[in-house]
Amino acid sequence: MKTLIVYQSKNGTTKKFAEEIAKRVEKATGNVKVQSLENTTSQDIQDCDLLYLGCWTKGRFIFGQKPDEKWIDFSHKMPDVEGKRTVLFTTYSVASGNMFRKMKQHVTPKGYNVIGSMKSTDGKIDYFSIAVLKYSLNYKEAVHERYIRDYAEVS
Ligand SMILES: Cc1cc2nc3c(=O)[nH]c(=O)nc-3n(C[C@H](O)[C@H](O)[C@H](O)COP(=O)(O)O)c2cc1C
Repeated sequence: MKTLIVYQSKNGTTKKFAEEIAKRVEKATGNVKVQSLENTTSQDIQDCDLLYLGCWTKGRFIFGQKPDEKWIDFSHKMPDVEGKRTVLFTTYSVASGNMFRKMKQHVTPKGYNVIGSMKSTDGKIDYFSIAVLKYSLNYKEAVHERYIRDYAEVS
């Protein structure tokens, strides 16, 4: 399985988070590439089986969080795909607000299947992110569907 990690970072924290994610993916699968969005082509995205897509949080600290314009431009140029497994990630300092909803709005219409999200204030991976990482690496459509069905049964 080929995993690609693409990040947009202004001051290095999101890059660090991407590299931390890469270390763990490398350990689990032995096949990972981590690169900035400036160095990423449509072909790179087409070629991967699992995509981690990250961006720093931009807003007014207590409200209005959204991806940076460079990330939005990049997302518009991403190729259309058919259900490519995608995990979104961001770094922030106080509040990430609706970052993931906003990021998702740009990629879902292009066929990206967002199966999780991870955030960090310092580029380190917390227990929640580890759980998302494990889930994304072991993701199987059938398991996902079953999870949804079972959850629906008890709720
Ligand atoms: C213009 C600007 C706006 C920001 N807005 C927010 C915000 O709304 N909420 C927040 O928690 N952090 C905000 N931050 C902090 C960054 O999201 C945070 O430092 C992030 O880790 C930066 O990532 P980078 O080092 O990869 O560039 C802002 C930073 C800048 C420069």
